Amino acid sequence: MSNSSKENTYEIFEDIKRNLTRGVKDRKHNFHTPVFCNTNNDGKIESRVIVLRKFEPSKMVLNFHTDFRSPKVTDLKNNNNSLFVFYDHKLKIQMRIRTTSTLNNQNDIAKEMWGKTRLLSRKCYLTEKDPSSFTSFPEDGIPEHLMSKEPDLEESEKGFKNFTVVENRINEIDWLYLEISGHRRLKIIFNNEKPEYYWIIP
Ligand SMILES: Cc1cc2nc3c(=O)[nH]c(=O)nc-3n(C[C@H](O)[C@H](O)[C@H](O)COP(=O)(O)O)c2cc1C
Repeated sequence: MSNSSKENTYEIFEDIKRNLTRGVKDRKHNFHTPVFCNTNNDGKIESRVIVLRKFEPSKMVLNFHTDFRSPKVTDLKNNNNSLFVFYDHKLKIQMRIRTTSTLNNQNDIAKEMWGKTRLLSRKCYLTEKDPSSFTSFPEDGIPEHLMSKEPDLEESEKGFKNFTVVENRINEIDWLYLEISGHRRLKIIFNNEKPEYYWIIP
């Protein structure tokens, strides 16, 4: 993307969509692991790195996977306002994306994504204790017989009840391009069919 196209709202939006798509597919792309933020039940901010699993440009939805027992799931049930932060130093782009989250557990969407999950990844959903629960010694919570190996298909299926697809509908993108010759910042709001663009002082 040339510098002049950093002044064309349509091209910027197309570039955002391209980079989010690459972020899903390319493990080395910095957009593969954004920070996902929400508010907990005490009104405190919670942020953590997640893996971007899906971007649907037609619906403007970003997905990641988590364990249904994790505290963020309970918090998102009570308050589904959420935010992603992306940064890529080579692209010189930060994006803060406001979203509304929906939880998918033991439904068709979860089933479809679970079907595409590798056995090794399914292991994360087999912890005996709940994720984020306290433990009296250092451990990963995975049953001992699975240490250094992946579960077989039958055992991996026990993780399905915990597997959750968090779908996040994009409401607003705050795009920031930091360039010594002139920073640029654009807000894109998705209220209607067509995105609305607003230039902002960076
Ligand atoms: C590179 C990386 C990728 C991660 N991906 C995920 C993920 O996709 N889903 C997830 O729930 N946690 C993921 N985590 C762990 C979270 O950052 C976090 O520690 C965990 O989910 C507990 O968060 P919570 O206490 O807010 O629920 C990842 C961590 C790292 C460092």
